[in-house]
Amino acid sequence: TAHQAAAQPEPVTLPLTRAAGCPFDPPAELAELREQQPLRPMRYPDGHVGWLATGHAVTRAIAADPRFSSRYELLRLPLPGGPSGPLPPAQIGDLTGIDAPEHTRYRRLLAGKFTVRRMRLLTERVEQITADHLDAMERQGPVVDLVQAFAHPVPALMICELLGVPQSDRAGFQEHAAMLSSPDAGLEAQMAALTALTECVGELVPAKRAHPTDDLLSDLTTSELTDEELAGIGGFLLAAGLDTTANMLGLGTFALLSHPEQAAALRADPGLADQAVEELLRYLSIAHTGIRAALEDVELDGQLIKAGDTVTVSVSAANRDPLKFPDPDTLDLQRKATGHLAFGHGAHQCLGQQLARVEMRVAFPALFRRFPTLRLAVPPEDVPLRDAMNIHGVYQLPVTWDKE
Ligand code: HEM
Repeated sequence: TAHQAAAQPEPVTLPLTRAAGCPFDPPAELAELREQQPLRPMRYPDGHVGWLATGHAVTRAIAADPRFSSRYELLRLPLPGGPSGPLPPAQIGDLTGIDAPEHTRYRRLLAGKFTVRRMRLLTERVEQITADHLDAMERQGPVVDLVQAFAHPVPALMICELLGVPQSDRAGFQEHAAMLSSPDAGLEAQMAALTALTECVGELVPAKRAHPTDDLLSDLTTSELTDEELAGIGGFLLAAGLDTTANMLGLGTFALLSHPEQAAALRADPGLADQAVEELLRYLSIAHTGIRAALEDVELDGQLIKAGDTVTVSVSAANRDPLKFPDPDTLDLQRKATGHLAFGHGAHQCLGQQLARVEMRVAFPALFRRFPTLRLAVPPEDVPLRDAMNIHGVYQLPVTWDKE
């Protein structure tokens, strides 16, 4: 019947090309697929036929369902032309690639350390670090690369604050961190930078054990975690919290500069910041794709997902679902974007989201108030976009302003 035919569409491959003419919109095909069927078969590079979720409700249901595993060794990357077959297992301390009960144990230990008090201390630090970098920008420009001058160093220093990296180690730390996100560094150089950073954290652990300071890493040394686990977790926090926040600041600024009326609203009313940040998270969905594997047969949306099937969720498509967010392709800072999935959902929902929010709520209004005439220094189509898998964003954002 027509109904059955509709329930078994031809497997597609994952659309990757961004919508023409807009650096913020997900691939146009994703909207078509979501309209046809929010959960549908998809072909993976190794020939496996798994699934693609594009609707908000079904994406949320998958993320909340423990019958879907996050274990890397069960997952295939959906990237056409990319590596095929299951991935290597998670390294020690990498929470995103493991399931309960191992995951629950780490998660509990860590969640207890991201306290209200710690977030308050970090808010004071981000205000200072933001102001320092805006001062430096003012001295250096006009015409600066906002990524290099602001969007990358602020979150990098905030991770140093979180982990308690001593001032004397920060220059080296920042250098490796910059390499981690550099467009010119190949995958190998980036992996080497991550290893170097994890080693830096590893070297800190014994010092924190011997002489605890007021930071998350010192807090964690009082738990049952081994030195190896602590170094792994520290390196992972860095990897999870740096590129993400840096690209939200970079791409978010680009989006605000491209919607001057929205930027003006934020400049006029810094009280709009909290809600503006949620809307930017939704609209940009920089962590655009998630992957899971079914541990058993699961019936969902009238379809049968078989045990072992890989399921890709398109967070960017889900966050533009008109059934959840009316007029979803419009950036509207007045909107209540609650319920967006930009930080994920369920057991693996972002552990650093309060820190990320604090950084963005301080940084965006401060930037736009300090430079009321801030604008792009190049045509928008010349801004180099990160179009790789993982995290969407900008490699550079040349900006200028009128000097008083
Ligand atoms: C997990 C996004 C900032 C630490 C996640 C996940 C997403 C995400 C989508 C879920 C991954 C999954 O389900 O597999 C973001 C975005 C950020 C951000 C968009 C910035 C705007 C941060 C920061 C930190 C952090 C600043 C810490 C310093 C983590 C950790 C996890 C995680 C530890 C793993 C949680 C788990 O698997 O239990 N993040 N993140 N993130 N994030 Fe974030």
